[in-house]
Amino acid sequence: MAFPIQRLRRLRQHEAFRRMIRETSLAPSDFIYPMFVVEGRDRREEIASMPGQFRLSVDLLVKETCEVAALGIPAIILFGIPDRKDDRGSSGFDPNGIVQRAVKAVKDQVQGLMVVTDVCIDEYTDHGHCGIVKDGRILNDETLDCLRAMARTHAQAGADMVAPSDMMDGRVAAIRAELDQAGFPELPIMAYAAKFASCFYAPFRDAAFSSPQFGDRQSYQMDPANRREALREIALDVEEGADIIMVKPALPYLDIVAAARAQMSLPVAAYQVSGEYSMIKAAAKAGWLDESRAMMESLLSIKRAGADLILTYFAKDAARLLR
Ligand code: PBG
Repeated sequence: MAFPIQRLRRLRQHEAFRRMIRETSLAPSDFIYPMFVVEGRDRREEIASMPGQFRLSVDLLVKETCEVAALGIPAIILFGIPDRKDDRGSSGFDPNGIVQRAVKAVKDQVQGLMVVTDVCIDEYTDHGHCGIVKDGRILNDETLDCLRAMARTHAQAGADMVAPSDMMDGRVAAIRAELDQAGFPELPIMAYAAKFASCFYAPFRDAAFSSPQFGDRQSYQMDPANRREALREIALDVEEGADIIMVKPALPYLDIVAAARAQMSLPVAAYQVSGEYSMIKAAAKAGWLDESRAMMESLLSIKRAGADLILTYFAKDAARLLR
């Protein structure tokens, strides 16, 4: 049955045929848009390493979320950039902290948009690590208390879902228990389950001023070399009560996305991280790539690999093209 009987080009001849046999499609409902919120009023600072992305004060964030919702994007994920940092990241679990206030404002003023919060102390610690530090080590179980408090205050502020990104062991179970106790048994958890120690987070750390002040994150984030271990991380988070599991970054880790999709029946999210965004932006600016096409092809590939949801800084641009 080989050539010339089989000619795969037959169905590639017309755009109509190509549309009929297209296996994967994107929709605005696939996207979650990450946003950065800062203190103050009327503040809109472009992030140098992430052209087109901004740090917004709460008032302007609310305005922009209206636009996000109007584009058919169902959810945002919020990252807070506080004025005050300390060794425990206390401003991250202050009931009146920047994210807590932003959640309240968006939930009060914008209809029909889900607000997800990132649960991790690195944006709030003066040392920039995702856990409590003692003698140069990142303490696991001590950090869980901070994460519990952070998740609870996000829930109390009205968050629709919490997303722990710290990679401490046992955090999903700890947060689940805390939410249940605090009266939020219905609040879902999207776990950054397989989060790799990646260089592709660099622009984000610029954006959030959250680079570690010593060492790196390799004692808690995963080794990029490990696929089987990623599946263990994912299985553990599912056992601990995760409702959605996430793989991060996306494009360099599509094999992990595909494996997660094949082995798990719950929804799989993939995070197209800051560095993935900035690479495309930079190449497009230099005239080396067509930005829209690079954006759509990378998003489509993430979906084709098996992601149900994509966290992406391109959410608005892609949604505009898909209307
Ligand atoms: C941690 C967190 C990070 C990102 C999301 N949550 C930074 C890190 O682990 O260093 C990175 C997202 C991106 O690069 O777009 N709170």
